[in-house]
Amino acid sequence: MTSNISNPDKIVNLEMKRLDQILLLLLEETMNSSVDKRDQPLEWSINHLFSCSQLAKLLAHKRGLDIELSGIAGAIHDIAIIRTGIFKDHGPLGAPMVRKMLEDYNVNYGAKSGELKEDEIDLIVEATYQHTEKKNYTEHKFVELIKDVDSLDRFLHSKDTYDFYSVRSKNSLKDLSIEFDEFK
Ligand SMILES: [Fe+2]
Repeated sequence: MTSNISNPDKIVNLEMKRLDQILLLLLEETMNSSVDKRDQPLEWSINHLFSCSQLAKLLAHKRGLDIELSGIAGAIHDIAIIRTGIFKDHGPLGAPMVRKMLEDYNVNYGAKSGELKEDEIDLIVEATYQHTEKKNYTEHKFVELIKDVDSLDRFLHSKDTYDFYSVRSKNSLKDLSIEFDEFK
């Protein structure tokens, strides 16, 4: 069998200690959630947070953005839904929750897994705040990335996809050089 990888014996590792620790914290939080009334099933939020994180990394790579920060924003952007069960205004409501969670992360895990700088936290907070405004297009590449990833992930989880969700899913797939017949 031939391989087109230049050195298949070489071990490669996309190291993301900060993201890995934050994913653990999010998983712990969702598993221990005591919110019983939810606009969306908790299972959906769990699936969505992990797959958004992965999609965000791929799209970030294509768009020249930081892969780990994008993975963190993809994972954490719906924290308000996880904590309250309420969909309405979960972007703006989630922003301060994200800031607190990431600041706490720095205190408790920064030394072990690596600190998030203040401007990195600001980026993730901003993307969380704005991600629910999918009809608005901004110059903010990081914000747009999370809106796009959120839309694409919904489509890939077989949610009804229409309007701006379709546009954003299609554009994301185009950037990833993938075509789906659904968008032809
Ligand atoms: Fe959301």
